[in-house]
Amino acid sequence: MDHVNLKVLIDEPRIQQRVKELGQQISTHYHGRPLHLICILKGACVFLADLMRHLDLDISLDFMAVSSYGKQKQSSGQVKIIKDLDSSLQDRDVLIVEDILDTGLTLNYLFRNLQARCPRSLEMVTLLNKPSRRIMPVQAAYVGFEIPDLFVVGYGLDFGEKYRQLPFVGVIENEA
Ligand code: IMP
Ligand code: MG
Repeated sequence: MDHVNLKVLIDEPRIQQRVKELGQQISTHYHGRPLHLICILKGACVFLADLMRHLDLDISLDFMAVSSYGKQKQSSGQVKIIKDLDSSLQDRDVLIVEDILDTGLTLNYLFRNLQARCPRSLEMVTLLNKPSRRIMPVQAAYVGFEIPDLFVVGYGLDFGEKYRQLPFVGVIENEA
């Protein structure tokens, strides 16, 4: 891994504590009902892995990949499904697991796309939220942290596919 300067924005204990709280909140809300989790690849995989271990529910998993920023820091505004779900959402309680809500373009599109598949309920949990960047409205039932308008990496989030494995959320200070 390149040794750029990374400034820690949210450290590992804070993330772990908050993920545990979110897991407890979600477990209370869906108590006694099976929950179908949809992880938005690739960024949300770390969050999913930690969150699901705090869910005291019968859960099932599915994965979806949509077009990302690639090596850019700006949204293209174009949403494309690269990998679709394996199973039907019909009559299921569905929770989208996302890493970060930025402009809302991706999730606004996904909500409409998944709602059309007739789930019993459809909600979202996002680890991070940048409300100041919103272009399209999106309802997130559960939010880990609200953050300022900074490009962040770590805990699943990448910059040009790098830094996903960092256990904290940080900001790149000196880019090469
Ligand atoms: P949106 O469609 O603009 O809300 O963007 C959502 C997607 O953009 C996220 O799922 C991330 O993959 C990516 N993204 C947005 N902000 C950041 C960031 O600060 N760091 C890394 N990826 C980001
Ligand atoms: Mg993502």
